[in-house]
Amino acid sequence: LRTIGVMTSGGDAPGMNPAIRAVVRTALANGIRVIGIEDGYEGMLNGRFREMGARDVGGILQRGGTILRTARSMEFKTPEGQRKAIRQLSSAGIDAVVIIGGDGSLTGGMKLQEQGVPVIGIPGSIDNDIYGTDMCVGVDTALNTIVDAIDKLRDTASSHNRAFFVETMGRNCGYLAVQAGIICGAEMAIIPEYETPFKEVAEAVEDAYKRGKSHCIIVVAEGAKLNANELAAKLQEMNVGFDTRVTVLGHVQRGGKPTAFDRFLATRFGVKAIEFLLSGQTGVMTALTGRDITPIPLATVVNNRRTLSEEYIKMARILAR
Ligand code: F6P
Repeated sequence: LRTIGVMTSGGDAPGMNPAIRAVVRTALANGIRVIGIEDGYEGMLNGRFREMGARDVGGILQRGGTILRTARSMEFKTPEGQRKAIRQLSSAGIDAVVIIGGDGSLTGGMKLQEQGVPVIGIPGSIDNDIYGTDMCVGVDTALNTIVDAIDKLRDTASSHNRAFFVETMGRNCGYLAVQAGIICGAEMAIIPEYETPFKEVAEAVEDAYKRGKSHCIIVVAEGAKLNANELAAKLQEMNVGFDTRVTVLGHVQRGGKPTAFDRFLATRFGVKAIEFLLSGQTGVMTALTGRDITPIPLATVVNNRRTLSEEYIKMARILAR
């Protein structure tokens, strides 16, 4: 193993930079050359490569986003695209690749591994929807951003006696919404994993008003069947007491400097990625299991769906009363 590539792919997540830094410096410490692949699979296909030294990753621990930039590539999904990418890697002398990204990016990694390119994946996605790891890089920072936003919304909501419908990201996963619901004391979290009847939402809002609450916060995951804008409009029409408003948190959730937790998790993942490579364990993802970082086969990761903790969902329901 002489030269490795490192790249970020899919939606960016705070903590990707600390992961890149840890990969680069751990590799260099072991005498391995590192090539940064820019713009995810798009850059791999088009040979956007640059040599990375220890200084190139200086001062990035605290920066959100990814210095290697990222993209979602349609071309790489095709067999021709994959062949083109493999040719680019081989002409640059890249023997193995560390891929930091979400589900789609790790699926791409598995395709490379199947075609003879050793790959290590690092889970990076604010959604926390990746099977096999307790946490992904970026989740903690996104959650802190959401908490900060909801705390602020609560101030204005209670000053005006309003019900706020706050839309969180997460694609088809309700993790961010459930956690935010618990730690922000929301009246309800509406998630894709469960079908919440509209009646239930209306009752929760009305009930909060009747019980004399000065505000009502409903967190709505973007992937849920019920939509924040529609809910707010319907409830406004029904005259449930509160005036209603909507806040879509959007891409704000993807930015910002990584929290201490994310920096440390990303750093541990980066170091372990190189350790796994050196010990010949490839085709795996670095996973946080309890307190340990363990290798889990990419095939297991991409062929399974992560489910939400029933315990947390129950907790959110009980504490909202
Ligand atoms: O996967 C991360 C994520 O932010 C999801 O939560 C969201 O659904 C999606 O990416 C948004 O993608 P884009 O940045 O392409 O709009």
